[in-house]
Amino acid sequence: MLLEARDLHVAYGDIRAVSGVSFRVDRGELVSIIGANGAGKTSILGALMGIVPLARGTIVYDGDDITGLPAFRRARAGIRLVPERARVFPRLSVTENLMTGVYRQRKKVPLAERIAWLYELFPILAQRRDQPAATLSGGEQQQLAIARALISDPQLLLVDEVSMGLMPKLVDRVFELLEDLNRNHGLTILLVEQNALASLEISQRAYVLETGTCVAEGDTRDLRRDPRIRQVYLGSGTD
Ligand SMILES: Nc1ncnc2c1ncn2[C@@H]1O[C@H](COP(=O)(O)OP(=O)(O)OP(=O)(O)O)[C@@H](O)[C@H]1O
Ligand SMILES: [Mg+2]
Repeated sequence: MLLEARDLHVAYGDIRAVSGVSFRVDRGELVSIIGANGAGKTSILGALMGIVPLARGTIVYDGDDITGLPAFRRARAGIRLVPERARVFPRLSVTENLMTGVYRQRKKVPLAERIAWLYELFPILAQRRDQPAATLSGGEQQQLAIARALISDPQLLLVDEVSMGLMPKLVDRVFELLEDLNRNHGLTILLVEQNALASLEISQRAYVLETGTCVAEGDTRDLRRDPRIRQVYLGSGTD
């Protein structure tokens, strides 16, 4: 097991955003947390990264209790977050933006090799490498944000609502990329998404979050057959 979250609670003043959520991510897995607006998805990722305080709960990562660790120590341990509506530095070029993600590489792969690998994965970024990031489309900026999170070879990638604002074709492309990173490059990924259809398709397991609590969990194959999940999250009735 790479990550285990037990009984997480997040509150903002009187607002209870997350109330007793537990989940795990095994090494090499791609796991989704799906849920509607305000379900608590971003709060959970913030708590995992150490940028949102936990009211209660325990986070164990790679065998260590990291519950009290500051964000930079978690980053150092190989956790990276692609935030919701990730921003890039508009005046910096694509390559310069990638360089801002460099932080404590675990394996000593030369940076030039790493960048070449990323440009292979994201050909559109390679084409635009010397352009200011402000000139990229929203979807291209989204890809740049993912690439930036990958540059220092993370062990666990947390991805917040990467499909937001993308046209369906691009959503497919970005999800295929995450699937490829997971299946063929051994990257462990925790995805939070409103787009249940796309995320259940690429995940091995998923958790369903409703107003701060987990209401269902399991293999995505089973969840996709669950009549209630189908109706509420997949926009279809039973077969
Ligand atoms: N900084 C904050 N201050 C007060 N309330 C907050 C704050 N951040 C989030 N909340 C509230 O906590 C709840 C959970 O929010 P969160 O952003 O975690 O949901 P989400 O599942 O990521 O939603 P979305 O799909 O819209 O991104 C919501 O009711 C939200 O209004
Ligand atoms: Mg969110």
